[in-house]
Amino acid sequence: MLPDVSGSRVADLGCGFGWFCRWAHEHGAVHVLGLDLSEKMLARARAAGPDAGITYETADLDQLSLRQASFDFVYSSLALHYVEDVMRLFRTVHQALAPGGHFVFSTEHPIFMAPTNPGWAIDAEGRKTWPVDQYLVEGPRRTDWLAKGVVKHHRTIGTTLNALIRSGFTIDHVEEFRPTDAQIAAKPELAEELERPMFLLVSARR
Ligand SMILES: C[S@@+](CC[C@H](N)C(=O)[O-])C[C@H]1O[C@@H](n2cnc3c(N)ncnc32)[C@H](O)[C@@H]1O
Repeated sequence: MLPDVSGSRVADLGCGFGWFCRWAHEHGAVHVLGLDLSEKMLARARAAGPDAGITYETADLDQLSLRQASFDFVYSSLALHYVEDVMRLFRTVHQALAPGGHFVFSTEHPIFMAPTNPGWAIDAEGRKTWPVDQYLVEGPRRTDWLAKGVVKHHRTIGTTLNALIRSGFTIDHVEEFRPTDAQIAAKPELAEELERPMFLLVSARR
């Protein structure tokens, strides 16, 4: 689902430890901007180098502003379910892309919310995380995911895709991730992932 990044100006929204920023840099991106709310994540990302070609900045995706037409490719992996207002973010991304620029993201699939611990099936408010209770009730959901009281913003697939369309994007591909048969043969415990998609992946174009 990724475009060719060589020669591209790339932004990674919620870049964490920066592994995708490094991948884009190694694959020929002319410049990569990694944005994250967490100073600790960014410190780890910076420490991993390289010293040139990638810039890391602190930013809240709910308050983000980006210069007009300043990127060819905007990427985000598993960060958008922490964003309250995706419509605002998608509009920001749309105007920040050059015409024809790509936006590819993954997000936690709204039918499933990563629970407190493997095997625990309720969130901090006692709602089922798989299949999620009250799928059609959008808004914040609190879970003890790595830390206590983590807030995720639950949205239906329709809301996410319509926000893209209304922001002016053309949607190229929507993927509800499943492991391949070969991956399951190599790692049988992956068969559990056929039960439901954990991730929603979308590629779109300005
Ligand atoms: C599950 S991690 C994914 C990190 C990385 N993209 C990856 O795939 O390895 C989610 C990241 O989103 C960041 N994040 C959460 N809410 C954010 C916000 N409002 N603004 C910016 N970053 C945020 C977190 O600090 C964390 O680094």
